Amino acid sequence: MALLEIRNLTRRFGDFTAIDNISISIESGEFFTLLGPSGCGKTTLLRMIAGFDLPDAGQILLDGKDMANIPPEKRPIHTVFQSYALFPHMTVSENIAFPLKMAGSAPDQINSRVKEALDDVRLSNLGARFPQELSGGQRQRVAFARGLINRPRLLLLDEPLGALDAKLREEMQIELINLQKERGVTFVFITHAQNEALALSHRIAVMNQGKVEQLDAPSRIYSFPKNRFVADFIGKISIMNAQVLEASPSHLRLSVAGLGEVTAPSKDGVKPRDTGVLAIRPEQVRITHHTEEVELKNNFTGKVQGFLYVGDVTTYIVELPNGARIEALLPNSAPGSAQFFETGDSVTVSWRQDAGTFLND
Ligand SMILES: Nc1ncnc2c1ncn2[C@@H]1O[C@H](COP(=O)(O)OP(=O)(O)OP(=O)(O)O)[C@@H](O)[C@H]1O
Ligand SMILES: [Mg+2]
Repeated sequence: MALLEIRNLTRRFGDFTAIDNISISIESGEFFTLLGPSGCGKTTLLRMIAGFDLPDAGQILLDGKDMANIPPEKRPIHTVFQSYALFPHMTVSENIAFPLKMAGSAPDQINSRVKEALDDVRLSNLGARFPQELSGGQRQRVAFARGLINRPRLLLLDEPLGALDAKLREEMQIELINLQKERGVTFVFITHAQNEALALSHRIAVMNQGKVEQLDAPSRIYSFPKNRFVADFIGKISIMNAQVLEASPSHLRLSVAGLGEVTAPSKDGVKPRDTGVLAIRPEQVRITHHTEEVELKNNFTGKVQGFLYVGDVTTYIVELPNGARIEALLPNSAPGSAQFFETGDSVTVSWRQDAGTFLND
């Protein structure tokens, strides 16, 4: 049985539907992420799981038990917010101890649990400080420790790393993965940063306008986006209009306007004459000087329109004869050489027949 079962959940504000008939089941021990653009309903969904808000329709079951009439403080769930929500007049230790105090635990038990929790988040020597005497990352660790102290079945995290700078954010991501592994607590994590979702999660629900567009493991979301929204939202991708010429179990033969034929991986439910787009990731596209021999059948010549150097890799934007643009990514692995092509160069872009995805919605 799933730990958390969300069944046909709907939430409306006036005539606006914020959560539109969502069903998700989350297994015990999972690091589950809700990912989507601002306003897609992530916080609304989380608030209903926590019990701060009630659905207009549908059910939330935890360990098979309907949560409809269970108030938030009676649910074995804790929520960590982006704003940390630490009590400013309490020390770090007192903040962490708070949920145990509320639950009426014995003082010596509280002390030993708090000590253990401080160790877990590497704040052992800061227990006597007040929140305003801590850095952002340290405050967030206090919030995690407080969230885990009474061993909830489910920890809900609403953009907990949103306020941290990039480097600290990455460090905290690693700590979060370790904390989740050690404690075995089930996490429901919210972010609108796709790289963070890919790095942390066992599974991701990509949300848009109150609905789940795709629910899958990170690698499947990235490599096999179900539709244009997911393809566009996760990572970089080039998109070209295409029509299906032939659909066989092993591959698709597509016609790309102004370019010619492209062979792409097969896809269920796709039939000849279907129209849609061919979507391809920059790292799947090879770029070579147009004078070089290319062994891949999917190959087209074009002109370098520009490039984006970001240190470890450079992305080249190539304009094809049909006016479409395709991005190709090259690692800058040789020291010093960070630019292999100039704007205006004639190049060939090519990709394997098992690369790219045809999307018809
Ligand atoms: N109490 C409310 N009354 C009316 N509309 C609301 C209320 N709460 C949320 N909404 C609307 O519901 C939609 C979803 O809001 P929600 O806060 O769940 O988005 P989100 O995905 O968490 O976005 P963000 O990434 O910006 O935090 C938004 O359009 C928001 O304006
Ligand atoms: Mg939100």
